[in-house]
Amino acid sequence: MTQARDEIKIGGLGASRKRVEDNRFIRGRGRYVDDIVLPRMLHMEILRSPLAHARITSIDVSKAWAIPGVRLVLTGEMMASRNLAWMPTLSYDTQAVLATDKVRFQGQEVACVVADDPYIAKDACEAIVVEYEPLPAIVNPQQAMAEGAPLIRDDKENQHDNVVFNWEVGDSDGTDRAFAQADLVSTLELHYPRSHPSPIECCGSIADFDRSTSKLTVYMTTQAPHIIRAAVALVAELPEHMIRIVSPDLGGGFGNKVPVYPGYVMSILASILLERPVKWIEDKTGNLISTGFGRDIYLRGEMALRQDGKILGVRMHTDSDHGAFFSDAQPSKFKIGLMHSTFACYDIPAAHLTARGVYTNKAPGGVAYRCSFRVTEAMFFQERMMQAAADDLGIDQAEFRRRNFVRDDDFPHRTPFGFLTDSGQYGKCLDVGLQAIGYQEFLKEKEEAKKQGRLLGIGISTMTEPLGAGNSREYDILGIKMFDSAELRVHMTGKAILRTGAKTQGQGHETTWAQIVAHELGIPAADITVEEGDTDTAPFGMGTYASRSTPVAGAAVAMVSRKVRAKARKLAAHLLEVSEEDIEWELGRFYVRSAPDHGVTIQECAMAAYSNMPDGMEPGLENVAYYDPPNLTWPFGCYIVTVEVDPQTGVWDVLRVVAVDDCGVRINPMIVEGQIMGGLTEAYAMASMQFMTFDAQGNCVGSNYMDYLLPTAWETPGYELHEVVTPSPHHPIGAKGVGECATVGGPAAFVNAVLDAIKDTGVRNIDMPLLPDRVFEALTTGRDVSGAPPVRTDDQ
Ligand code: CDP
Repeated sequence: MTQARDEIKIGGLGASRKRVEDNRFIRGRGRYVDDIVLPRMLHMEILRSPLAHARITSIDVSKAWAIPGVRLVLTGEMMASRNLAWMPTLSYDTQAVLATDKVRFQGQEVACVVADDPYIAKDACEAIVVEYEPLPAIVNPQQAMAEGAPLIRDDKENQHDNVVFNWEVGDSDGTDRAFAQADLVSTLELHYPRSHPSPIECCGSIADFDRSTSKLTVYMTTQAPHIIRAAVALVAELPEHMIRIVSPDLGGGFGNKVPVYPGYVMSILASILLERPVKWIEDKTGNLISTGFGRDIYLRGEMALRQDGKILGVRMHTDSDHGAFFSDAQPSKFKIGLMHSTFACYDIPAAHLTARGVYTNKAPGGVAYRCSFRVTEAMFFQERMMQAAADDLGIDQAEFRRRNFVRDDDFPHRTPFGFLTDSGQYGKCLDVGLQAIGYQEFLKEKEEAKKQGRLLGIGISTMTEPLGAGNSREYDILGIKMFDSAELRVHMTGKAILRTGAKTQGQGHETTWAQIVAHELGIPAADITVEEGDTDTAPFGMGTYASRSTPVAGAAVAMVSRKVRAKARKLAAHLLEVSEEDIEWELGRFYVRSAPDHGVTIQECAMAAYSNMPDGMEPGLENVAYYDPPNLTWPFGCYIVTVEVDPQTGVWDVLRVVAVDDCGVRINPMIVEGQIMGGLTEAYAMASMQFMTFDAQGNCVGSNYMDYLLPTAWETPGYELHEVVTPSPHHPIGAKGVGECATVGGPAAFVNAVLDAIKDTGVRNIDMPLLPDRVFEALTTGRDVSGAPPVRTDDQ
């Protein structure tokens, strides 16, 4: 048997292997929840509230029941009789499954119908008559905290105002001392608007309860199947081994498919009651108005500066709008996610953050939309603040960053909020970016253009962010520790199957995990099947969000491969008739140290594991590894954008986008580049066009793709990608996460560029999205432009 020893040839680490999953995706052969059809399956539709805040005075379902083909109509009252009207959230709050007393946001679930087909179910929903008594709607934290504001969560016994939490972190006294020594204090205030992850596939589930076996199988759009299984076991009080959650192909997730939604719960209950499979598939508007929003946070901060550009300290305050239910999915310990990872790439002696969360009459918000739990908002504020401070000091924005970067020889570095960053070459990344964009030349071009009345601008954003929650000491969700897992089974012919506790949603795990095994064992990646998302077969894992797959599950894949290799070494010693100590390893092959031509391949070892193992050795070649990371990984991103703003209209065009990413060792460079391009596109969308707001009545403006814009290839700028590689010192293959970096770091680069172009007006901030009318307003008034809701709509 011969074994290719070239790692790239076998699709190992560093190979830009084509995505194996695309074979089925581009042929239209993906298997999404909605593709699954089970015998005797029924269909569920949800009736949603048209009002944002109202008391329910009556619900009449008689006309719905009368429609032929209707099998079940559920209301909050019926759910309450089974003690299921409310469910726990992943943040220790409660959320209504179906509204009983009041509706608290537009789009909230009020009733549901199960029928023979989806059209009958929809018609029956329309036949339900609900009487509402409207209440004043609250659509931002300022209204929520105002004197006499209506109490949104009057269902909660000890809730006397609309505050969800008050939380603080950092060194308050130390920060005060830093400010006392400052030559200059720079301030900034902004709103990071609500946005929606808007995966192309909406949420949905098919619950299939089989009375004869008492087994509940749920096919579900979830990024975290094992957490869902635990939640179903606890809420429905079903035995965990009788629950199987299957997350098949997902058409994107971006954090939207982490929370537990009422639709899932109702389809499960309906299936148990009817003893038939029940399918629920959300429509686009349902998804856009009612499921996991991201961001929606007001940030205020000040920076204590020395005249020479040294940052002495930072103070920050956030007011986050969580909607009607606090259902963020984030580590329990941190109320405002990892917001306090901010300023981690800068050497800042002291910092203090206070955070307040409030309820409003909006759908639950705060999911980690392509970010590590509020890191996007943190880095946006950080990089907007860096530009404002550089301008206040009159120091070049690149130079200001360089003066404050953590030095390459200063790792591990303790950040002002207590994180320990692992590695980085921040100055080098910035230099690569500046060189690529031609920084000095652009500054000259900008000055020249100004003389002709043209407005050119350049924006920089540099950041390191924490990817890969746990470790289990500090990170848990609902008490479940954050780690991950991989199980590897090598068959007798040397082919293998790998299962992990993560769940791909388009990131390419089926391709890249096989590459890690190929790197560790020398088995060609094409010989390895990767399977995820079925709780009956996959080992327990916390799922995929916050770019944690590579740092945690990817590490588990390397570790399980090493365990398998350790056993294969024993088999090799047996086959080569030498002791284990006399054996060396090279990719895919063990050989005798003193006779390198005398060796056996990993495939030969696999065969021996089933046919020729030594006496006393357990047969088979497989193992499982649970990986509890010692630290988060800390990738670095440097994003530089140049723009031209039209002074007559406020329209701005992107001239160039340069991205330098350091995500440590790249498993598959092509996939990494795809992740960065996707991330930059989302960053551009948020900065330029994506507008999800609410009018004064709490109506969601942006409930469809005519109003909530996703950039197409036409609008999307071109990207120039560069890399720096600083391997993670603690990850088994030196990799760091990358999936969300550009979404996190990108928006500030676009906004900084536009503000740089109009700097002479004295405008410090325009809230995203930087729509032309906002830029025009800033240009003509010279004042900052806020985008906070309520925003006027045409009919006001
Ligand atoms: O958790 P999620 O999969 O969304 O994010 P990630 O761990 O950053 O990985 C996104 C994709 O990029 C996966 O297919 C990774 O295996 C790949 N990747 C890579 O090839 N090299 C890295 N250093 C990091 C990620």
